[in-house]
Amino acid sequence: MYMSKKDVFFQKMDELGLALTYDDVRLRTSYSESMPDDVSLSTRFSRRVPLKMPLVSAAMDTVTTSKLAIEMANLGGLGIIHRNFSPKEQAKEVATVKLYLNGIVDTPICVRDTDTIESILRRRDEKGYTFHSFPVIDAQGKLVGIITKNDFEFCDDARKTAREVMASNLVLVGSRVGSEDAYAIMKKNKKKVLPVVKNSGEVDGMYTFKDLKRLFSPGITNYNVDERNQLRVGAAIGVGNDALERASLLLEKRVDVLVIDTAHGDSKKVIDTVKQLKGIYGDKVDIVAGNVSEAASTEHLIAAGADGIKVGQGPGSICTTRIIAGIGSPQVSAVYACARIASVHGVPVCADGGVKYSGDIPIAIGAGASSVMLGSMLAGTEEAPGDLVFFEGRQWKQYRGMGSLGAMEANKSSRTRYGQADVERKNDLVPEGVEGLVPYKGSVRNVLVQYLGGLRRGMGYTGTTTIQELQDRADFIRLSPAGSAESHPHDVKITKESPNYNI
Ligand code: XMP
Repeated sequence: MYMSKKDVFFQKMDELGLALTYDDVRLRTSYSESMPDDVSLSTRFSRRVPLKMPLVSAAMDTVTTSKLAIEMANLGGLGIIHRNFSPKEQAKEVATVKLYLNGIVDTPICVRDTDTIESILRRRDEKGYTFHSFPVIDAQGKLVGIITKNDFEFCDDARKTAREVMASNLVLVGSRVGSEDAYAIMKKNKKKVLPVVKNSGEVDGMYTFKDLKRLFSPGITNYNVDERNQLRVGAAIGVGNDALERASLLLEKRVDVLVIDTAHGDSKKVIDTVKQLKGIYGDKVDIVAGNVSEAASTEHLIAAGADGIKVGQGPGSICTTRIIAGIGSPQVSAVYACARIASVHGVPVCADGGVKYSGDIPIAIGAGASSVMLGSMLAGTEEAPGDLVFFEGRQWKQYRGMGSLGAMEANKSSRTRYGQADVERKNDLVPEGVEGLVPYKGSVRNVLVQYLGGLRRGMGYTGTTTIQELQDRADFIRLSPAGSAESHPHDVKITKESPNYNI
């Protein structure tokens, strides 16, 4: 096997029996023509799930619900909806993300030409529809008109039928017209709604101007979207029947990737679940499996069919697994070992947990990760679940381990993640995480500017312009405790907080 500079470095460490983590290492700088703003951050979370930037939000009940997942995908990354939701609730969360940005509305809700405005508004209310545009069809199911918000507002008599108030001078397109062309047609004709029709005249979809404008506005082109221009989203699942039930509901909502989310990925139940899901769904959906921290474990999951590997056993800010169970490998060495073997199979690795500063992100990628999963770094954002807590004169948000007592008591999925599904008595639970507070940080957008800014700068200093180059060319230095202390501010009393540095 070809030995890169980092292979030589990690091999030496291995010979010494040493495994390293973020604070132990830095990347060597190198001749550079790369400017931070010119670098490409495109990468993959799994074989078929691309990212426009390498950050993924953790599947934790104090981190990723639809709200954060929407913003992560808006900014080019990905959110993994946690599994402390019931399967149905979790599928609904996925649907919320998928429907946030509609390239095309696949099956628009239609009304009959004979329906009264009154009855349409009542139905709208009952069903909780948030939109006002409806294609109007006749008894044969053919499109005859459109009613939009204006038609409802200017209608002076709610007993009138849809046919009496609808617009019938329609601009229509066939199903082969893509969203970019549809947007151009809508702008040219000043139409807010563009129905897609089959040759038979039946409705086959609908474009709305609001959605397409959001999608194609200049300057906001970093959305991580699927082939239908809907935001990408992942969801965490367990093993066995839970996994099968969730997978089927989540796929109905068009989830992009399923993440088998366990504390010990190299176990029979996880491997069997990967095989089962691949057997049922094949390449219809990517399966990411984890967590692992050894090369051999990575090979077992890839042999079972995993499309991505999640690495990290105990590095997380709220994790106590290593302390409670005495296992686990420091994160940078674990990422290196797992990514090296995964790359032979073309399978991306996600470095999950332990990131404290933006500088840890280029280190994780340099060690071989294709993406980096963040928990504590995102838990304090506006979009993470939970209210603000005022404590010691500051604003905080709650953040807890999925294996903390609170999470395990509240939810069976948490107990399953830590192999304690059938423990009934609270006192018999053995937690592997803690509960706490993280500083409130404002919007995800502002926070990611700093994290990605740090990554771009790291790439500039190492002379790399793509994620792949950073993975291939990274060279590491091991820090002594004095070197590590020197890296942080020292001999000053910090009087003003920096947006990307805290102690
Ligand atoms: P950070 O450091 O980003 O870590 O906050 C997030 C990751 O930690 C894992 N996780 C846990 N690990 N006990 C553990 O040992 C726990 O209670 C726990 N909860 C979350 C998880 O992989 C997450 O992405």
